[in-house]
Formats: sequence, C-alpha cells, structure tokens
Amino acid sequence: MVLKPQILRYSSLPSTNSEASRLALEGAPEGLCIVADEQTAGRGRLQRQWISPRGAGLYMSMILRPRQALETWPVLTLMSAVAVTDTLKRTDKVQADIKWPNDVLVQGRKICGILAETHEAADDRLLVLGIGINLTATAFPPELRETATSVAEVTGKMVDHEIILTTLLKSLSRYYELFQQGSFDQIIDAWCKRSSYANGKLVRVVSEDQSIEGTTLGLEPDGALRIVTSAGEVKIIRAGDVTAVRPDEESSKAFR
Ligand code: BTN
Repeated sequence: MVLKPQILRYSSLPSTNSEASRLALEGAPEGLCIVADEQTAGRGRLQRQWISPRGAGLYMSMILRPRQALETWPVLTLMSAVAVTDTLKRTDKVQADIKWPNDVLVQGRKICGILAETHEAADDRLLVLGIGINLTATAFPPELRETATSVAEVTGKMVDHEIILTTLLKSLSRYYELFQQGSFDQIIDAWCKRSSYANGKLVRVVSEDQSIEGTTLGLEPDGALRIVTSAGEVKIIRAGDVTAVRPDEESSKAFR
C-alpha cells in the first residue's frame, strides 16, 4: 500500500514525537505527519535534548504502522537516514554521510538526527519516526558548533523549509514501499552506498556495558552493524553510540 502522508502543522509543541505518539495511540492513521515551527522539549536519542528554536530546523514526526515483523523495524531508521540524505542532495545539492545507525552528517558534523519510537499496546503496534534537520545555525547552541552544522551553513543560501519537507515525504514514501514489500536488502544497499561508515572505518562503539573498537564490515540483514576487532573477532552491534576513531588518535596511541 502506498503511503499517503498527511500533514498536521503546529506553531509550537513540546515535541512532535510526543504529539504524534499521543495521536497514534488514539488511533491516528499511518502517514500522519506532525510538523512544528518550534519544539519546547524536543527529544533526541539516549535521553538527550534536541534544541529546536522557531524556524531554525525542520521538526517532524510521522506515524507508521508497519505490517512486517518487529525484528525488521530497525531497517526503518536506516531508511529514514537514506531518505534525508537523498532529500538534501536533491533540494540543496548537499552531499551528506550517514553514521550508523541514522545520524546524517556533513563534513563530519551532524545536520540531522532521527528518533524512532515504538509503541506496543494490546492490539496496536506502531512506530513514530521523528526527524530533526538543522536548517540554520541557530538550530543548535554555540557549544555544538564543532559537532553540528546546518543546511544554510553548508550551502551559504536561504533554505526552503517547504521544499525540503515535501521532498522528504516523497522519499520516505518511496522507501517505505520497498520496506512493506520486504525489500530490506535494497534499503540496506542504499544505506551502505551513502555511508562512509559501512565498510573499512575504524570506529569505537560505546554502549551501556562496554566500549569496543573495530573496523566496520557492512550491515546484517536487519541493519545491525558488523565490526571486526584487532583480535579478528566479528561483533554484531545492535545498540550504542558509534564514533570514528581519528587517525591522529590512533598514531598518538602508538607512540604512548
Ligand atoms: C538524535 O538524537 O539524533 C535524534 C534527534 C531527533 C529530533 C527530532 S525533531 C522532531 C522529533 N521530535 C522530537 O522530540 N525529536 C525528533
């Protein structure tokens, strides 16, 4: 079934994800998108805050009710990052990278974050896909200047919020159709083609209980990241924060 996004616009919300979740649990249909000009309590992954000043970012959440098995849903977060990457290229000629699983980066700095939240009730199961794209540099506080960027900064031009939103919804719908058909491999392939993290990247993965280093070795069919440690052991990563280990950090370690 083709996804037909429908947009509900708000001037201000605590969080588009929270509003979308509330409406979804009341029965709102698949494809409903909540878009706000500002968020007063925007949420990021790992309980982080997502600073969302008025007009400085695209803040949107879409309700999905996938019929595929729950174990395949992580592919939806990869799919969203691919859709954002394609959108930025199409609308603003921005060449973006994807850090596993779904941080969209330009020149190593974050331009978009994605928060996918699953809800399961007795007879209901759904996903809220929250996407925040930094449109201008005021989308993030000065202390994030080193690690974040925005479409306006990268292009040096005014950003058309509406064109980005429309293109993104089209792209999400196209990839979601592939997902619903069970063509997960096509989504994984698209992700790998767009991500410098897919293969051969030395990374550190920090999760609740461990920190490991290794070189990336592609993705599992469900989107988990494979890495091989210096001891030759292959690890499958399903959660955690991935960072690239910089070459200078490596060489300084060698001389210690
Ligand atoms: C991340 O930590 O990288 C994820 C950030 C996700 C932010 C978006 S903005 C729209 C939606 N509403 C929220 O409260 N969070 C997501």
